[in-house]
Amino acid sequence: MLLLTRAPAKINLTLHVVRRRPDGFHDLESLVIFAGVADVLALDPAAPLGLAVSGPTATDAGDTEGNLVLKAARALAGRVPGLRTGGFRLTKRLPVGAGIGGGSSDAAAALRLLARLNGLGLDDERVRSAARATGSDVPVCVHPRSRMMAGTGDRLGLPLMARPLYAVLANPGVHLPTPAVFKRMGFEPGEARHLGEHPVPHDGLGHGAFVDLVRGGRNDMEAAALSLAPAIGDAIDVLGATADHRVVRMSGSGSTCFALYDDRRAARAAAARVAGARPDWWVRSTALR
Ligand code: C5P
Repeated sequence: MLLLTRAPAKINLTLHVVRRRPDGFHDLESLVIFAGVADVLALDPAAPLGLAVSGPTATDAGDTEGNLVLKAARALAGRVPGLRTGGFRLTKRLPVGAGIGGGSSDAAAALRLLARLNGLGLDDERVRSAARATGSDVPVCVHPRSRMMAGTGDRLGLPLMARPLYAVLANPGVHLPTPAVFKRMGFEPGEARHLGEHPVPHDGLGHGAFVDLVRGGRNDMEAAALSLAPAIGDAIDVLGATADHRVVRMSGSGSTCFALYDDRRAARAAAARVAGARPDWWVRSTALR
């Protein structure tokens, strides 16, 4: 028996950096959503705990010992005596170090599979605590649904029933370590920046109002990431030149950027245009939900 789950890309539709905390982490407010593009994770309960990685972006994923899939599995095993584990097989399709939470989503997928194998609920405090211990973006990826996240990612809003958005994701092939981008933002210890309240999304918003809410937000990491990796500016410009885009922005700490469109056809046409102009980039048209 092989257990399987998808580990979808996480997109930060907005990402407001509010404060640098005394512990060095930054408090955020972010509206996240998940894409139709994903890694795939399988678990073979008959095998010993381990990880094999294959797929188009496997070579960028680094050594398997440092992979967040194993970190998550070990974090849960440390909290649940006698946890049944197994051999993980990760098919890596998402770009790595790319601001779309690939590694975090893989780790969350591992927790989902282990929870299923062991009859644990995803709201079990041991699963939640293992997610937090694995990385800031892991908790939101455990139930991959659009919602607000706050704090360092440890505070999650309720899932939103938003209708799907249509997007193009474009990664210009540069990898950015998240801590370097936070550092470039130059917050002093304890410093807060008050750049306005994050708009509050709710289920009553129709498509247009939801997109307007996203347009009214920002990614506060964009300028710092762009100064470290100017190719991000190219991605924003190329997406910004496509017809009928509603929002163009970077996700997470970069380097993947996204543009939103009102329908699937516009997104597909834009993706074809971007991929044609930049054949060396990773470009995908996808629904977000
Ligand atoms: O939690 P995670 O391991 O993904 O974080 C990696 C690094 O990114 C942290 O060590 C910290 O430097 C930075 N970070 C931060 N504020 C956050 C999340 C991450 O400063 N909210």
